Amino acid sequence: MTDDLSQVNTASPALEANPTANSAEAEAAAKAAKAQAAAEREAAHLKEHPEHRVKSFVIRAGRMTTAQTKALEELSPKYLVDVSSLEKLDCAAIFGREAPLVVEIGFGMGKSFVEMAQKDPLRNYLGIEVHPPGVGACMLLIEELGLTNVRVIKYDAFEVLTKCLGPESIDILQIFFPDPWPKARHHKRRLVNDSFLALVTPLLKHGGEIRMATDWENYAEQMLECLERAPELHNTAPNGGYLPRPEWRPLTKFEQRGERLGHGVWDLVFARD
Ligand SMILES: C[S@@+](CC[C@H](N)C(=O)[O-])C[C@H]1O[C@@H](n2cnc3c(N)ncnc32)[C@H](O)[C@@H]1O
Repeated sequence: MTDDLSQVNTASPALEANPTANSAEAEAAAKAAKAQAAAEREAAHLKEHPEHRVKSFVIRAGRMTTAQTKALEELSPKYLVDVSSLEKLDCAAIFGREAPLVVEIGFGMGKSFVEMAQKDPLRNYLGIEVHPPGVGACMLLIEELGLTNVRVIKYDAFEVLTKCLGPESIDILQIFFPDPWPKARHHKRRLVNDSFLALVTPLLKHGGEIRMATDWENYAEQMLECLERAPELHNTAPNGGYLPRPEWRPLTKFEQRGERLGHGVWDLVFARD
């Protein structure tokens, strides 16, 4: 992959055939190639130093309920996976079985995540969240429903993905309503960008999926642009672009909040070639 705009332009067969008519197309291709090359360089650096990435979250000083505190104390041995050593995870040992793996980043309070897992007992569900009350609430739900196919991690998902999960280990990676960081000066905090995709694509199995939803149009556009230029990923929407709301995705807490505020919802599912 080259980072040099002039080389990309010269190398374009479209431009050679018709230099004037195709110049806009070639320029767009060159821009995409440049963004991709930069993303790959950044991804290579972040793979070694995930702690250098601008954090996609701020830990809120949300109050823990007594039940959530108790859940963190008493249910952690059963459902919480300790990743503090940042070593590779042995999912078969964690879940006590080999099964397709679904990883969800930022499950919030965990209701929709646990609901999906309950309806899908043949897959293992690993949720990653940094918000302690959410992790406590999620473990309470897992216990209440008696689910054996769900585990949670209380840690920065970016570090977990780069350090603890191996190539071709994930069947489905899902990110529903990630923090939108709407102000332009905060866009660098958005979880989904080119370097994120360069890092996570190799973790997906071939044919595996990356699923996203957001209620922020501008973030949806960013997600789509990044996904479209990510090598090895293709859009599963028959006509490209966004999918109609999939029936397999339960309504999430943030989605409900967005609905109340009159926001739209954009769903994306891309698969690894
Ligand atoms: C806007 S909330 C959405 C929660 C849930 N998915 C929903 O739709 O209701 C985004 C969540 O992602 C979590 N989050 C953001 N960045 C994260 C990261 N790097 N690792 C783990 N969790 C993260 C936040 O703590 C927050 O709970």
